[in-house]
Amino acid sequence: MAVKGRHLRGPSRKATSSSTLIFAMFIMFSFFLLIMLALGLLSIPSTSRDSQKAHDLSTIAHNSIDRGDEDDEGRGDQWVEVISWEPRAVVYHNFLSIEECEYLINLAKPHMQKSTVVDSATGKSKDSRVRTSSGTFLARGRDKTIREIEKRIADFAFIPVEHGEGLQILHYEVGQKYEPHYDYFLDEFNTRNGGQRIATVLMYLSDIEEGGETVFPAAKGNISAVPWWNELSECGKGGLSVKPKRGDALLFWSMKPDATLDPSSLHGGCPVIRGNKWSSTKWMRVHEYKV
Ligand SMILES: *[C@@H]1O[C@H](CO)[C@@H](O)[C@H](O)[C@H]1NC(C)=O
Repeated sequence: MAVKGRHLRGPSRKATSSSTLIFAMFIMFSFFLLIMLALGLLSIPSTSRDSQKAHDLSTIAHNSIDRGDEDDEGRGDQWVEVISWEPRAVVYHNFLSIEECEYLINLAKPHMQKSTVVDSATGKSKDSRVRTSSGTFLARGRDKTIREIEKRIADFAFIPVEHGEGLQILHYEVGQKYEPHYDYFLDEFNTRNGGQRIATVLMYLSDIEEGGETVFPAAKGNISAVPWWNELSECGKGGLSVKPKRGDALLFWSMKPDATLDPSSLHGGCPVIRGNKWSSTKWMRVHEYKV
């Protein structure tokens, strides 16, 4: 009996020690792998394959929000579409309701002025041929509707409401455009309050029959893979484009996750060919923007 018992115990003890060894080796290997990843000696395969995948329709997340929710009344189906990783850009469909779009237009209409651009030498506003629209600013938190929209933008971008500049409302008539530019600043003056601009949410308040796309001429990836490619104007086909649709919001980042400026965020507004373009812009800063 004693001999049998010892026989039985023998192999099982061996099995235990070899599985412990395998486990220990596995832990050591994982640890080694983590250190290599941390030091950047190994990298997870990415770039070329990812930038193609960015335009693969299978990467699009489509979520229908429960219509019973009071907050979402009149906004229709909402879903989010990643359109590019370089720059990082996402379209949120039916971000605003038709009523909210009309509210913003009517609020801004009596105060529209010819748009200016920032002079990079002086930091002051100046008239420009590169930007032929008209526009106005709506103060942050000025009324309940604006506060609701600003809260929604903050939730969408994961950037606090306090980091946002006032909403800008823009109007482009036929032939009006905004040449490609960066939203970040290259001067000291404009970054004193709030620091650099990190991201932008651009909301389309009207449908446009033709033209008026938001174009990213420096975007990487397959620009012709967007579902609306065939509807784009000549200018729109000059880069990765978003076709304006009333209520949709485009979020894009002017800075990379490591807080360096992202030159692939270069973007412009194509000339309107037919129709009337109304849009609203929310620029967001790295730090709190004091108003
Ligand atoms: C880009 O996308 C279009 C549409 O999906 C496809 O026909 C074309 O082959 C793609 N081009 C490249 C270079 O992948």
